[in-house]
Amino acid sequence: MGKQNFSDERASRLICDTNNYLQIPRGYIRPKSERPKLNEVALSHSIPMVDLSDLHGCSRQSVIDQIRRACKEDGFFQVVNHGVQEKVIKSTLDVAKEFFTMPAEYRQGLYSDDPSRPVRMSTSFNVQKEEVYNWRDYLRHHCYPLEDYINEWPSEPRTYREVVGKYCTEVRALVLNLLAAISESLGLEPDFLNKALGKHGQHMALNYYPRCPNPELTFGLPGHTDPNVLTVLLQGNVSGLQVFKNGQWCAVEPIPNAFVVNVGDQLQVLSNGIYKSVIHRAVVNSTEARISIPTFYCPSPDAVIEPAAPLVTKDNPAQYRKYTYAEYYQNFWSKGLEAKSCLKCFTVDNNVAVTQTKN
Ligand code: OGA
Ligand code: NI
Repeated sequence: MGKQNFSDERASRLICDTNNYLQIPRGYIRPKSERPKLNEVALSHSIPMVDLSDLHGCSRQSVIDQIRRACKEDGFFQVVNHGVQEKVIKSTLDVAKEFFTMPAEYRQGLYSDDPSRPVRMSTSFNVQKEEVYNWRDYLRHHCYPLEDYINEWPSEPRTYREVVGKYCTEVRALVLNLLAAISESLGLEPDFLNKALGKHGQHMALNYYPRCPNPELTFGLPGHTDPNVLTVLLQGNVSGLQVFKNGQWCAVEPIPNAFVVNVGDQLQVLSNGIYKSVIHRAVVNSTEARISIPTFYCPSPDAVIEPAAPLVTKDNPAQYRKYTYAEYYQNFWSKGLEAKSCLKCFTVDNNVAVTQTKN
């Protein structure tokens, strides 16, 4: 599809502020071959469920085995008994809902298209780079170290900073437990991934997918992989997340108080391709708005990422080159969100025996 001029079809305006469409504007309509085909989505089999209550008990090894299988085969799993308090989850979902029902001018005042801003409200994915927009508004901000960012967060709703600050701290504790378990599941020292992430980074988004009059023509988010290490997603009570598995899109129905965890691109690299950063997407629906809250746990920008040395062997030579996370992240935001992940820009071609000169 050629580049079209959708500028008259809105870009820098949030969708939820004009959510009275009878039909979506042209700028959101995907070409026929790229549409979600919702009637072909599998509803029956989903992703593994891991109960983390035994992670610190005598069955730790069994939990680690389940995590290994899930990261290898699905790239996705859900967790329960994860340590994040139910009341913290509930108040975070409540404050997110409140944020998106506040007056439009307030959210529009936080608007920015610049992905390098640590706190911003935006729409679609990357409006500067896209040909077709996505049916999503989002608030995105950094969360770690908390004291560096919390004062930049929205000041309304009044409880936002307190509630979401607590949420971030509890989710981070969960992630640190998962990083240790995942390190062990790869046969690495428990602190391997923790150390590989440098000073660490944590970002989160409040995704708002307004009710959509034509869910078959557009996406909330098209198929993509996450650029970070590990994503911990809180789905509200409306479904929309779909994971690509065995050549088919599979719906992941929300389970109250569970989190969906997925392998991001950095974990695929650090594990030298043993764990997979799997393509997923969010679809929208015509009956109700959906909120989801992903936490993107990541290396600090200066962290140097490369396959873990013990996982580079004669049978599995290094599949990725060394780079800083800043370099990767810049590459990720330099284009629209698309199924071709930016991982391919960082691969090593092990089949090239002789250096070839390009002409
Ligand atoms: C994301 C994402 C899925 C969802 O924000 O990267 O994949 O269900 N979200 O909102
Ligand atoms: Ni994602």
